[in-house]
Amino acid sequence: MAFEKFNLTGKTALITGAAGLLGVEHAAALLESGATVVLTDTSDMALNAACKTLAQDFDQAKIITYVMDVSQLEGIRSVAESLWSTNIRIDILVNNAAIDPKVKGDQGVLETSRLENFSLEQWNLQVAVGLTGAFLCSQVFGTAMAKDGKGGLILNIASDLSVFSPDQRLYRKDGLADDLQPVKPVTYSVIKAGLVGLTRYLATYWSDKGVRSNALSPGGVFNGQGDVFVQRLSSLIPLGRMAQRDEYRAAVQFLCSDASRYMNGQNIVVDGGRSTW
Ligand SMILES: NC(=O)c1ccc[n+]([C@@H]2O[C@H](COP(=O)([O-])OP(=O)(O)OC[C@H]3O[C@@H](n4cnc5c(N)ncnc54)[C@H](O)[C@@H]3O)[C@@H](O)[C@H]2O)c1
Repeated sequence: MAFEKFNLTGKTALITGAAGLLGVEHAAALLESGATVVLTDTSDMALNAACKTLAQDFDQAKIITYVMDVSQLEGIRSVAESLWSTNIRIDILVNNAAIDPKVKGDQGVLETSRLENFSLEQWNLQVAVGLTGAFLCSQVFGTAMAKDGKGGLILNIASDLSVFSPDQRLYRKDGLADDLQPVKPVTYSVIKAGLVGLTRYLATYWSDKGVRSNALSPGGVFNGQGDVFVQRLSSLIPLGRMAQRDEYRAAVQFLCSDASRYMNGQNIVVDGGRSTW
């Protein structure tokens, strides 16, 4: 049966940043395929809300939550120990957590998103979550996948900005001088390209242990952004619109299951065709 290859019954997937916009969708995708999910994020309250949302459509017994900061190795290890102590093996790791500061451009005197003004503190913070966090989670959970001979799958959530540079014209605000215009920060491009590098590294590192690694690079999801931005971005996308939040579910199901079992070390770009223009 064709769809049998997508069946994740009996598998457990841990998702980082799972209480956010796409984290909940990744969880829904994996629950739809029969997996148990471990939702992790930094806030108990946000995790409870995510769990409540998912429990409307899926069996709550298949949803586990843990507060876990991906930038803190000890915290990741203690979540792993707690899972293992109850015989829960992580078969799938979805590195999804990120700090994605919204591009606002209302600073007035100093636009801190601009490269010239971008603080080392913000650089370190964002890299610690979006890139180092993926490394640390892969180190803890990937090592365990490789060790017991059963293998597993690591999915890194990158972005269409892993394959091209941000078009800063999208974020321009009327009436602001050039040096006050907000931009997509440099960290975003660096982190997302770095995740693709991590994906390739992991894909070969544990390939003999049955651990595959791939990246998913989504395009922008519509989430109530202003009309001007949406119109500008849509005009850069051959399909003429931003993504709906549930339009990456099928890609997650494919990449996290045996349906993709011969795919390893790839970056799948799902962007309405933006990167082809
Ligand atoms: N939304 C989009 O349009 C879009 C497009 C392309 C790629 N992405 C990527 O998809 C992923 C999810 O994006 P989203 O839109 O759901 O963002 P989001 O901000 O809604 O979710 C990110 C989650 O990460 C969590 N997080 C932040 N710091 C953390 C830490 N230290 N430890 C653990 N979790 C932490 C946040 O609490 C949040 O719940 C991100 O990697 C993002 O870059 C999103």
